[in-house]
Amino acid sequence: MTRALAVRSVLFVGGRRTEAMEAAHRAGMTISYLGPKSGLSERRRELVASALLVPDMSADHIVKAAIALHSVQPFDLAMTMNDDFLQAAARINHELGLLANPLEAVTAVTDKAFMRELLRDSEVGQVAAASVRSAYDLRMLPRTIPLPVILKPTRGTASQSIHVIHDTEQLDALARELDFSVPAEDTTPPWLAEEFLDGAEFSVETFSMAGRHHLLAVTEKFKTANFVEIGHLVPARTPAEQQDRIVAEVITLLTALGVQEGPAHTEVMLTARGPRIIETHTRPGGDAIVELVRLASGFDIQQLTFSWLAGEPVDLTPEPVAGAAAIWFLTVPEGKVTAVGGLAEASAAEGVVTAVLTAAVGDLVPPLHNSWARQGDVIAIGDDPDTALQRARQGVGRFTVEVEPPSAPAF
Ligand SMILES: Nc1ncnc2c1ncn2[C@@H]1O[C@H](COP(=O)(O)OP(=O)(O)OP(=O)(O)O)[C@@H](O)[C@H]1O
Ligand SMILES: [Mg+2]
Repeated sequence: MTRALAVRSVLFVGGRRTEAMEAAHRAGMTISYLGPKSGLSERRRELVASALLVPDMSADHIVKAAIALHSVQPFDLAMTMNDDFLQAAARINHELGLLANPLEAVTAVTDKAFMRELLRDSEVGQVAAASVRSAYDLRMLPRTIPLPVILKPTRGTASQSIHVIHDTEQLDALARELDFSVPAEDTTPPWLAEEFLDGAEFSVETFSMAGRHHLLAVTEKFKTANFVEIGHLVPARTPAEQQDRIVAEVITLLTALGVQEGPAHTEVMLTARGPRIIETHTRPGGDAIVELVRLASGFDIQQLTFSWLAGEPVDLTPEPVAGAAAIWFLTVPEGKVTAVGGLAEASAAEGVVTAVLTAAVGDLVPPLHNSWARQGDVIAIGDDPDTALQRARQGVGRFTVEVEPPSAPAF
């Protein structure tokens, strides 16, 4: 199967990294760039045929600028590697009538409330959800969704500000504390409440071509009690029958949203009532999941994407490097870093592919409230999932980070 229209020229919106531009270049595409001057590194300057530098990256401005650029330097597709501009890139494609994922599907992946709305009455397993625009909405919540509920920012990322509300005291406290304001141009509610989905969590990498969705990998997810991801394992250690149900649900979701092409990363909770969707993205997973998939399934998601867009035939035969691959993250207590070590030891541990230690002496480590508070990671491979996971964890165990706890406030 090949794409109905081969992309010969592509517009990159924003971003700083070069990998995707390099891949587009290798695929023989003419590259344009739209974004701030700071996004145009020396290498990017070599790769682009034209650039329109705009300091104002609001969606409306980006769309207007892209349409103007298209009139003098036409492109076949607008794309971005930065989540902040996904919606703008989709609007550009929509307004110019370019073949791409539909605007509605991309809107759904950047707005959790809109996604639940769009999926209402679809064949996707239903999750009770309600928009929360005010303290009043929050206090009234138990009338529509029984506690416990999850309360999360509609446009949240990196597991920030995810609250589980167990009782009315907690509800009242959050009603007093939370910020319910939204930017003037945004119509979506600031918060989304959902029924609490109890179960094991997975993420699913897929690649879609002309509206048909193909499985690349099912990943097992490990997280802290406050939902910060601390590890991933490919393939997940779940029985085949359960994996089939998870994958079937993801395919139903992507079809319901109208996703047409490219990679998707979908998070799924396997509950007693069956798999339930947490959220999806029309891009590959972060947290080095792309690397785990390359090692354990043999798929290079970047290369798949650009081969498909360039109109080349895409080969989905798995060619794994190893039986399994895992990443584990280093987390350290809050405080000031006084000593770091063990990078060489972690790198040399059996099965370790990469080890990264970001903590440095003098750093102030914040409490582990989001993914950015993690201080390093190790990727390891093994013949089977248990071995890969154990090796990644052992690798992280070789890091030594000493932290001086924050001094207690004086009374
Ligand atoms: N309805 C729910 N029931 C139970 N757990 C949930 C629910 N919604 C979210 N979570 C938990 O919170 C985590 C983060 O939620 P979500 O993925 O929606 O936010 P996010 O900030 O986009 O996260 P990330 O960027 O880390 O994927 C989920 O991976 C899941 O563990
Ligand atoms: Mg998520």
